[in-house]
Amino acid sequence: MVDVKLRGIVKRFGKTVAVNGIDLDVRDGEFIVLLGPSGCGKTTTLRIIAGLEKPDEGRVLFGDRDVTYLPPRERNVSMVFQSYAVWPHMRVYDNIAFPLKIKKVPKDEIDKKVKWAAELLQISELLNRYPHQLSGGQRQRVAVARAIVVEPAVLLMDEPLSNLDALLRVKMRSEIKKLQRRIKVTTIYVTHDQVEAMTMGDRIAVMNQGKIEQVGRPDEIYLKPANVFVAGFIGSPQMNFFDATIYIEKDKAVLDVGDFKLGLNKDLIEVLKDYEGKTVIVGIRPEHIYPENLIPSTTKKVAKVEGIVDFVEELGSDTIVHVNTGSQILVLKISGSHHYEIGSKLVIALDLDKIHVFRKDTEKAII
Ligand SMILES: Nc1ncnc2c1ncn2[C@@H]1O[C@H](COP(=O)(O)OP(=O)(O)OP(=O)(O)O)[C@@H](O)[C@H]1O
Ligand SMILES: [Mg+2]
Repeated sequence: MVDVKLRGIVKRFGKTVAVNGIDLDVRDGEFIVLLGPSGCGKTTTLRIIAGLEKPDEGRVLFGDRDVTYLPPRERNVSMVFQSYAVWPHMRVYDNIAFPLKIKKVPKDEIDKKVKWAAELLQISELLNRYPHQLSGGQRQRVAVARAIVVEPAVLLMDEPLSNLDALLRVKMRSEIKKLQRRIKVTTIYVTHDQVEAMTMGDRIAVMNQGKIEQVGRPDEIYLKPANVFVAGFIGSPQMNFFDATIYIEKDKAVLDVGDFKLGLNKDLIEVLKDYEGKTVIVGIRPEHIYPENLIPSTTKKVAKVEGIVDFVEELGSDTIVHVNTGSQILVLKISGSHHYEIGSKLVIALDLDKIHVFRKDTEKAII
């Protein structure tokens, strides 16, 4: 087992810059998730770590060993791909045994290891079957068993669950995570699914356009997004964003949105005074705006705004309400099932302790 360091990785394909200067430290035994939209460079980054692709610039280190130009087989990595890359003409047993056979591991040792991996993935009773006799989830388990059977120093997974149906994905999510905890292999897991990232990652690296925007624990990424991109990418429904002008009164900092104002605590004056008179981007998550009659008892300070119900989505566990305040449509996420008439008036309360403020020019977080 080993830690993985990426230093200044750049990868171009013709005019496309797929990876644009990535630095990342993955700790020994850590489960890190690369999360980002389609085309942001996740697969390319993973392939560079695997040795399937050479970077144009930068270095890849496994511990103290510079592996940048080593071929995959000399790196002791395993990769699980999106499509279940199991060989259709081989029984499950032989699929799992294959990487060991290539390494010329003795037969009885292969047998032990295949049984160990099959046991971990709960596919022991399937070892004699062919892939076409398996379900999608079982096939993906075979792929994972084949990846771990060599006891790799680094396990790389590229959207391994995206071909599975929603229910199975949730089940496999926790199984992969538990397996990783058991064998403690350093794991780099690629996904564009934020829920997968939040539930599986010890830490998440949020990527956008070939760069890492933020690295942190799931709660850090959710509570303290570094910029507008991360704030908008994590959370469903998406965070509400709107422009506001800042002015400072003697005991508070005020965000003037136009048809309503948000008065923030005076301890924020110090941070916000440099932006007085300027336009900033304000962000608040749907779960931090409440109907007036449903303000949680733990909430300290709110700003109340009157609006008209514009749209309602009743999901059973939650109710999503879109409220038109005049200049903005604000989206609320309310726990439980509630009924609201479209077109009716609703007074909503914005939780002032949950407000995010970003610079308008760089979109970086101020608070
Ligand atoms: N072999 C290649 N030749 C040319 N361009 C490529 C190649 N591989 C990737 N790219 C481009 O590099 C960029 C990053 O691709 P990459 O596959 O790493 O994205 P990704 O984040 O994995 O996306 P997805 O979520 O859709 O899988 C894209 O613009 C892609 O078109
Ligand atoms: Mg990809």
